[in-house]
Amino acid sequence: MDRFIIQGGTPLEGSIAVSGSKNASLPALAACLLTSEQVSLDRVPAVRDIQTMLNLVKHIGAEICVEKAAGKKSRITIRAAEIREPEAPYDLVKTMRASSLVLGPLVARFGRARVSLPGGCAIGARPINLHTSGLEQLGARIRQQHGYIEAEAPEGLRGADIIFDRITVTGTEDIMMAAVLARGETVIRNAAREPEVVDVAGLLTSMGAQIEGAGTPVIHIQGVATLHGASHTVIADRIEAGTFLIGGALTRGDLAVTGCVPEHLRALIAKLRQAGAEVTEAADTLRVRTPNPLKSVDVTTEEHPGFATDLQAQFMALMTQAGGISFITETIFENRFMHALELARMGANIRLEGRQAIVAGPTPLSGAQVIASDLRASASLVLAGLAAKGEAVIDRVYHIDRGYEKIETKLAGAGARIRRVSAK
Ligand code: EPU
Repeated sequence: MDRFIIQGGTPLEGSIAVSGSKNASLPALAACLLTSEQVSLDRVPAVRDIQTMLNLVKHIGAEICVEKAAGKKSRITIRAAEIREPEAPYDLVKTMRASSLVLGPLVARFGRARVSLPGGCAIGARPINLHTSGLEQLGARIRQQHGYIEAEAPEGLRGADIIFDRITVTGTEDIMMAAVLARGETVIRNAAREPEVVDVAGLLTSMGAQIEGAGTPVIHIQGVATLHGASHTVIADRIEAGTFLIGGALTRGDLAVTGCVPEHLRALIAKLRQAGAEVTEAADTLRVRTPNPLKSVDVTTEEHPGFATDLQAQFMALMTQAGGISFITETIFENRFMHALELARMGANIRLEGRQAIVAGPTPLSGAQVIASDLRASASLVLAGLAAKGEAVIDRVYHIDRGYEKIETKLAGAGARIRRVSAK
């Protein structure tokens, strides 16, 4: 297992370019299963979760071609002329919960799907009951046996009025992908408004789907008989961009994050400014500086456009260096504070009370050997390592490789002293 060795104390300076969004690419790859024609996707990041999804769509029957011209962004073309195996096996699903995104497309196109239940997860229970009940409302018969969800709709799906009990990002994407090939109109209420939902709706529309309202709480879909091929460029990864912005503020650097969409990062930008960082915007670039001492601010995670749960861990690292008490409340996942104890090992003063972390700062951070428990927790520990005195060792880097493209190369390009060491 690889680890990162970081010599902290160097500010991030210069610029870092953002990759395409992992969480927009995953549903986009699943959407390719909805047509027998070729779909080309640009700006799909080369991260492990994407490789897992590619393995899955290949297992299902798609032909995949990854073109990587030197110095250019990679393009992936997918053609699912036939569905050979409408199944997401446990071995693939257990490493990546987003595999459940193939459920909707498979039932819609093939009339049948068998998807392994994902099992436990480091950040919370993460059930998929809202995906399955949405599909049931679209007319699918759902059975659960031997650890698998089996869905069947031999006569095809029919439009329905679906209200999600709670907002779910991949649930919204999954049902939207199913509904585009259902007979008649589907309305999804209490839908997720994340930019990734809007992006996959854009791809589906260019494939011939009729969707209105993506990005609002109510999405209207008129089903069509078939979809055709398309080309699509995936949006910038707002979580990656946010991670680097927080890193720039935390190391008191002067960092430009390029190729991002500032509109997708409003809640973070507002919190960074409240904390005393200077954030300036120009088209697709955000620049962060921290000329003055940081002040503590409170953060509560919410669905978009609120403060993203995927930036909570990184923001907690920042608050360890802010003067005062910061209350960080996690409302999306029930167990997403694993990084707090590791940050404490580096010198942070954090008390956990249920869904709230109370961070008292500033406390000097010193490098230590820490273990990453999930993707965003790992990112938070890397940022803390950059700001710490001495050497930090971040173990189990495979978590970070799931969702950040060449993070150590990008950070090193901005002056960080970070290197990957492959364990024997
Ligand atoms: N939930 C249910 N039932 C369901 C689905 C969700 O109870 O059927 C609950 C979840 O347990 C959670 C809440 O609803 O408490 C919200 O979960 P959501 O379904 O929105 O999460 P997700 O779609 O599984 C996506 C991202 C996550 C991100 C969350 C929240 C992808 C592939 N994953 O997950 O990203 O944290 O939305 O914004 O889009 C990450 O990239 O590190 C990551 C975990």
